[in-house]
Amino acid sequence: MRNQGKFLAQFLNEKVRQDSGLEADLAALIGEIATICKSLSYAIRAGSLEGVLGTAGTENVQGETQQKLDVFANEAMLDSLGVSEHLAGMASEELTDIHPVSAGHSRGRYLLIFDPLDGSSNIDVNVSVGTIFSVLPAPSGGGELTAQHFLQPGREQVCAGYALYGPSTMLVLTTGSGVDAFTLDPRVGEFVLTHPQRQIPADTREFAVNMSNQRFWEPPMQRYIKECLEGSTGPRGKDFNMRWVASMVAEVHRVLSRGGIFMYPYDSREPGRPGRLRLMYEASPMAMLVEQAGGSASTGYKRMLDVQPDDLHQRVPVILGSRNEVAQVISYHTQAAAEAAN
Ligand code: AHG
Ligand code: MN
Ligand code: MN
Repeated sequence: MRNQGKFLAQFLNEKVRQDSGLEADLAALIGEIATICKSLSYAIRAGSLEGVLGTAGTENVQGETQQKLDVFANEAMLDSLGVSEHLAGMASEELTDIHPVSAGHSRGRYLLIFDPLDGSSNIDVNVSVGTIFSVLPAPSGGGELTAQHFLQPGREQVCAGYALYGPSTMLVLTTGSGVDAFTLDPRVGEFVLTHPQRQIPADTREFAVNMSNQRFWEPPMQRYIKECLEGSTGPRGKDFNMRWVASMVAEVHRVLSRGGIFMYPYDSREPGRPGRLRLMYEASPMAMLVEQAGGSASTGYKRMLDVQPDDLHQRVPVILGSRNEVAQVISYHTQAAAEAAN
């Protein structure tokens, strides 16, 4: 029996008609992105049967070895959306430079930046992976499109979302009026609204961080985790649980589903690379989703959506999730900065 929720297209059409501020061409672009996520979902589900697993033997701009699925997902996005009349250009984790869209029509109103396949290290072990996307306004005038046009702070996003390829495939998105989550019904090949208007609880007892990096963190993060681990016998007075999937999409989905705090903190190993995650196609879209669901997202020192990018692939420390817990971590950063200034 099919869940009786609305199909994505019905949901988007209704939102456009209700004059909720969702433009018809943005709704159409979201539909196009959803279609590619569906085709990626089917390829990922087939796994070895489709020959999509294993390493591609190439490196991306970050110096990371690409998996076949990184390349496949990136090409699927570029091929399908390269003819979109709603786009002026795209940028991706897997591309050094931007990819202008000029399919013989006038320039579209939007820019798309994406992580085609998030959680690459999980592909070959059959653990959840995802696709993350962020939509920004394109420049309105003519002239050549450049990377500079993409370098807008996250607060300028008009849409952010992800597809999660887990036990079920889900599409989670915001256009600035809350967060809605859709489940792919494989029997009809459509996304169905199953989790409208997600809300992240303000408090949590669950944190997610890669503890193996602990010795490279700054003192405020060391303090926060130490106190979590001390549990009910420490200053926090409560016991915490820990999770680490190593797919940001899956971690954020858990936070959106039941609360929690997810962190990939500043890391002293490579000062030029403050943290592991990328601002424009990982941190910013996830920050918009989390804020739209009542949570917070910060670098520890600054609201994530206010960070001004200076490079398409720049990295940033990430702390996001239940707002009271994020506030606790920010307060430790603020205190440490004040002490250092004295
Ligand atoms: P990607 O596969 O797009 O390179 O991103 C992987 C990211 C993110 O999804 C996850 O939170 C983190 O890297 C995992 O890091 P560890 O390898 O340190 O666990
Ligand atoms: Mn990623
Ligand atoms: Mn990726």
